[in-house]
Amino acid sequence: MNILIVGSGAREHSIAVSVQKSPLCSRLFCLPGNAGIAEIAECFPIAINDCEGIVSFCKEQGVEFVIIGPELPLSLGLADSLSEAGIKVFGPSKAAAELESSKIFMKSVCSLAGLPTAKYRDFDDYNEATQYVLQEMASMPEAIVVKADGLASGKGVTVARSAYEAVTALKEAMVDKIFGESGSKVIIEEFLSGEEASVFALCDGKTARFFASAQDHKAVHDGDTGPNTGGMGAYSPAPVIDEAMLEQIMEEIINPTVKQMNKLGKPFCGVLFAGLMITKDGPKLMEFNARFGDPETEAILPRLTSDLLELLLACSEGRLEEAPILFSEKPALCVVVASNGYPGEYAKGVAINNLDKVKGLPDTMLFHAGTKLSESGEIVSNGGRVLCISAIADDLKKAQKQAYNAVDAINWHGGFCRRDIGWRAVK
Ligand code: AMP
Ligand code: GLY
Repeated sequence: MNILIVGSGAREHSIAVSVQKSPLCSRLFCLPGNAGIAEIAECFPIAINDCEGIVSFCKEQGVEFVIIGPELPLSLGLADSLSEAGIKVFGPSKAAAELESSKIFMKSVCSLAGLPTAKYRDFDDYNEATQYVLQEMASMPEAIVVKADGLASGKGVTVARSAYEAVTALKEAMVDKIFGESGSKVIIEEFLSGEEASVFALCDGKTARFFASAQDHKAVHDGDTGPNTGGMGAYSPAPVIDEAMLEQIMEEIINPTVKQMNKLGKPFCGVLFAGLMITKDGPKLMEFNARFGDPETEAILPRLTSDLLELLLACSEGRLEEAPILFSEKPALCVVVASNGYPGEYAKGVAINNLDKVKGLPDTMLFHAGTKLSESGEIVSNGGRVLCISAIADDLKKAQKQAYNAVDAINWHGGFCRRDIGWRAVK
C-alpha cells in the first residue's frame, strides 16, 4: 500500500519508522515531514492545514491510507475529506475530534457518560466567569484551573494559585483574546492533585483496546519547573498505573467514552489519548486528545513488536478486535532536545553535527522534530523541539543512561535538554 503520514514532528518520524518496517508498506510519503523523515519517506511541502491540497496529493500519488499525526488537521476535518474521497484514514472525524478541540464538548461527554473528572462550569461571559472564580476561591482551594475551550497549541490551560492569577487568565483568553476564538469560551475547573499519567487506546469506532501507558514531562526545566512546553521527554509504560488500575481506566473512562460517542452519532476512530491525574481517590480524567502524544509516542513505539501499520489499518476498517497488539516487556524513555529559548523565542537555522554517532548506538533511536536540510545540505534546526532520542533497555535507569549518552554524542550549540527525564520512576 502507498501510505501518507501527515505532520512534521518526532511523533511522525517515529510513526514513519514503524510503518516503514511493515511488509504492507510500499511507498511512504510524509507531508511536510522534516530532515529525518526525508531519509525514509518522500516528503513534500504541503501544509498540514491544507485539507484540499492533501486530498489532491493523495489522488495524484495513489495514496491508499493516511495516518494523521497532529490535532489541527483533525479539527479541520481532514479525516472527513479523505473518507469522502474514498481514501482510508487513521484519525477521527472532525465531530469526534471535538473530544480534543472543544473542552466544553469533552466535559459534556464526561457528564453524559458519568466519567470521573474534575468538577467544572463553562462560561462565555467574562464577568460571570470572574464572579465564579471569586466565589470558588473564597473557600481557599489550593488552586483553580482555567481552560480555553478550543485548541491553543498546548498553552490554553492555567493552573491558577490565586484568584488574581485566574482572573488574569480569564481576561487574557476572553477579553484580550490571546488564543483568538479558541478562548472566547472557557471552562473553570476544580484542581486535582496527584501524579499525571496517560493512557492510549486504539479505537475503530465500536471497540477500544488498550495500547500503552506513558508519562511525560511538560515543564521546560529540571524538577518539573518553568513554563509548560509540548513535552520535554517521556517514558513508557507508566509505573504509576498497575494492571488493576488499567482495567479500571478502560472500564470507567475509555469504554464508556467510545460508547457515548457512538450514541451521539460521532463514532471515534483513531487513538484516544486520556490525560489522567492519579489522585488519592483513583484515576481522574483531565483531558482527551484525539491523536498520539508527542513525545509519548517516541517512548511507546520503540516497545511495539506488532505491525503498527496493520493495527492502524484495522482501526480504520472497523476490525480492531482481531488485530494483535504486542509490546516488549522492556521500558523505553525519550529525551527531547530543544532550541535555546524554547518555549519562548528561539533561533532557527543552527547547524546540528554528529547525528551519525547516535545512529550506531544499540537500542537507541534518533527521531527528528524541527529539522531541515539547508541549501548546503547540512541538517539545521527549524523549530522549538528539534530532536528526540529514545532508548529501550531492561529497566528505566538503563534506558535513561543510554538516552543521555546519545544526547551527549550530539554536537549542537543551539540547544538544550532536561537532564532528569524519568526522575519519578528512576530510583
Ligand atoms: P490539559 O491540556 O487539560 O491536559 O492541561 C494541561 C496540564 O494542565 C495538565 O497536564 C495538568 O498538568 C494541568 N491540569 C489540567 N487540568 C487540571 C486539573 N483539573 N487539576 C490539576 N492540573 C490540571
Ligand atoms: N505530550 C502531550 C501531548 O502530546 O499533548
